[in-house]
Amino acid sequence: MTRTTERLAVTTPPTTDLDEATALRHQLADELAAAGHIRTPAVDRALRTVPRHAFAPERPLHAAYANEIIATRHSDDGTVISSISAPWLQADMLEAARIQPGHHALEIGSGGYNAALIAELTGPTGHVTTLDIDPAVTDRATRFLTQTGYGRIRVVTADAEHVPAEVVPDGGFDAIVVTVDTWDLPWIDALAEGGRLVAPLRLHGYHWAISFTKRDGALHSDEPLIVCGFVAMRGDGAWHRNRCTVPGTGVHLSWEDGTPLPVDELAPALTCEPTVTHTHVTVGGQEPFDALTLYLAGALPGYCRLSADSDGDNGVLNPPPKHWPGAAIVRGNSLARLATERIGDGDDGKGLYEFVVHGHGTRGHLAAQEMAEQVRHWQHNHRGALCPHITARPTASCAPPARDHELHVFAKKHTRITVDWPIVPGPAALLIDRGSCSAR
Ligand SMILES: C[S@@+](CC[C@H](N)C(=O)[O-])C[C@H]1O[C@@H](n2cnc3c(N)ncnc32)[C@H](O)[C@@H]1O
Repeated sequence: MTRTTERLAVTTPPTTDLDEATALRHQLADELAAAGHIRTPAVDRALRTVPRHAFAPERPLHAAYANEIIATRHSDDGTVISSISAPWLQADMLEAARIQPGHHALEIGSGGYNAALIAELTGPTGHVTTLDIDPAVTDRATRFLTQTGYGRIRVVTADAEHVPAEVVPDGGFDAIVVTVDTWDLPWIDALAEGGRLVAPLRLHGYHWAISFTKRDGALHSDEPLIVCGFVAMRGDGAWHRNRCTVPGTGVHLSWEDGTPLPVDELAPALTCEPTVTHTHVTVGGQEPFDALTLYLAGALPGYCRLSADSDGDNGVLNPPPKHWPGAAIVRGNSLARLATERIGDGDDGKGLYEFVVHGHGTRGHLAAQEMAEQVRHWQHNHRGALCPHITARPTASCAPPARDHELHVFAKKHTRITVDWPIVPGPAALLIDRGSCSAR
């Protein structure tokens, strides 16, 4: 993933002349500029101006200016349901939104701070609307925005699935910044032609902040995707994991963007030793491979994500998937899943791994070969692209799909999302020469 890293001139006055909050704010902005998250003078000025601590008065000053998320509201079970996003992510998303003076901008998911940053970008001639489903959040945002002098921002309590028509300006918003994890993009009509929309979009359970420009009534992505995490959407647009548990195993399969397949027949497959299909494709211990999983999700019918209870999988998966649900496909009573095998220390000492595919069940080896082939296809054709081009078209404007699984198409309620992978081969050195299939 490339990022513009041009350094901005540091504009911090000597810290001795500043009160503590202002000094911490400039320190944070310096850090974000040095890391390439702040890339334009306008975003730089906004982050140096808006008093972040005034939107998190419960926090000590230094915590308000840490480059971290601040949780502001929890559900009864302790889940975070509202927060002030991490400053690096806010800076990245605001840069991607390309908001200009005089723009009409909509923020989905409120808190106050980010709306104030947006208001600095739109300036006195612009208009900012921030919308949240939770009255406790909008009350708090209204209070803090008034106290900090941003009372012109319009704060609306509504479900973002149904943006009230009266808040949409004639011709649509110039920019929409979505700050809540969303499965769909029901805001195309509310965006002006040529306008920008930045949103953390879920595609088969993986989520990235994606920036789009609206052209000819559709959204087209045109910047690197940003790996991120946001609180979950509530209300009518809440996403469903479609999670099925393989009986008696503590192994779960999720079909967020696909049709759940029967899992009852899979239990015997999971209790047998898997076959291991080598892909000959390597990955560094610290190297993200989200792009590969998104590629597999679009390339393989029956794709799902597999997770296992840490204490409830009966030892059937060895090694069990770590941290994140892993890529898997189901073929009848058999299953294949992506795994990694350590094959060395790597140049940086952080480990070198090979992608392997475990096949479970009578036809598991065939499913594993199918997945391994796609891993190699991605390596040979697309890995160098780092990220794909994504297009979101209103579902109503699309012809019905020709078949159940259209390659690299994610059918949502409001939009049909197409993922185009440019042909840019991955580095040849990442391919290793080993036998292709072995049983463990
Ligand atoms: C990460 S917080 C927003 C952070 C904020 N933009 C800031 O200043 O950093 C996400 C917000 O989305 C809100 N939200 C969740 N579901 C929503 C929905 N359907 N419509 C509108 N807001 C929603 C939550 O209540 C939460 O306050």
